[in-house]
Amino acid sequence: MNETTDTRPGPASAASAASADTNTDTAAARLAELALGHVLVTMIGLGHRIGLLDALAAGPATADELAASAGADPRYVREWLGALVGGRIVEWTAGTGRYRFAPGYAGVLSGATAANAAPGAEMLTRLTAMVPEVADRFRDGDGIPAAAYAQRAGSSLGGSRRYLYDEQLVPGFLGAVPGLHDRLRAGAAVLDVGCGPGQVARLIADAFPASRVTGLDVVPEAIEQAEAARGDRPNLDYRVGDAAALGEDGRYDVVLALDVVHDLGRPQEALRGMRRALAPGGVLVMVDIAFSADLDEVAGSAGATQAFGVSVLHCLPISLHGGGAGLGAMWGREAAERMLAETGFTDVRVYPSPRPQNAVYVAASDA
Ligand SMILES: C[S@@+](CC[C@H](N)C(=O)[O-])C[C@H]1O[C@@H](n2cnc3c(N)ncnc32)[C@H](O)[C@@H]1O
Repeated sequence: MNETTDTRPGPASAASAASADTNTDTAAARLAELALGHVLVTMIGLGHRIGLLDALAAGPATADELAASAGADPRYVREWLGALVGGRIVEWTAGTGRYRFAPGYAGVLSGATAANAAPGAEMLTRLTAMVPEVADRFRDGDGIPAAAYAQRAGSSLGGSRRYLYDEQLVPGFLGAVPGLHDRLRAGAAVLDVGCGPGQVARLIADAFPASRVTGLDVVPEAIEQAEAARGDRPNLDYRVGDAAALGEDGRYDVVLALDVVHDLGRPQEALRGMRRALAPGGVLVMVDIAFSADLDEVAGSAGATQAFGVSVLHCLPISLHGGGAGLGAMWGREAAERMLAETGFTDVRVYPSPRPQNAVYVAASDA
């Protein structure tokens, strides 16, 4: 250290210290807001899981009435309501002891509609159950099998998309692909790769009775659930299998891969298998990330931030499992288009999807 240096703060260093203080205060205030948001999102996820949000939407009610209608313990419900009143999501009338949603919240936190954000909140709260295991994988770089998520975080992770698919699968996602409705209406052989508990396969089998739908998933519990919900649908079947080991050449007119390719350990092999599985003139419909992976492009984007976070907790560990490729949710539209081209698809088109973070990639080939 130079002892002759004058270390007394001058006007410039005082200004920079003041600006550092302001930045620190701003960052601290933002973190406090984020922590509050985390608490409220957790309460929302919990309320959705217990059925309390739909009970609240039915109209003003006391804690005891809400507890009774959701089959919950009143003491827990009062504490939960306290958090939501504190967060101004629920209002409380002291005179009557009744609670109700603050204006606007019933529309986004209840009901079987795609506008309901509560299933997404529940999915995030379920994923946090994986944090200790994900932290261990940060140390050793290994992955986590998809089946571990089904066992530890619950098999209904995909439930966050349930209402969206109910409303938008046929008109929005499939409707985005020119000519696909006509093809399905006329009768097509459809393979849904990574079908999970089978909602998409059921919706297609119902909407297009002349088509025949096969759902494939690597997790046996997912296929068991799908089978249990199959009902009386003669044009629908399921099987357990790894997408990377697809061996049914030339059998399908339409192969679907909805929100799945970025999870795969061997995505290139799987895409090749999907291409081989297509009959001449067949088409691959892949719903996946719409964002660029370029950080300059996505900085400040709420959707990309969420996709990165969900990827850390779910998609990346799954795709790294067994020495996998580790694409993760934010592999980006550039890599998606490149991999489809490398698979041999000569005609790749990209359409917007009803979910802004996803695009609908449609791939076909002449050969
Ligand atoms: C994010 S979920 C999407 C489920 C469904 N397609 C949807 O859109 O709701 C990904 C699914 O891919 C399945 N999966 C993961 N790796 C797979 C593989 N190698 N082969 C087949 N399915 C796989 C998972 O078990 C899971 O059901």
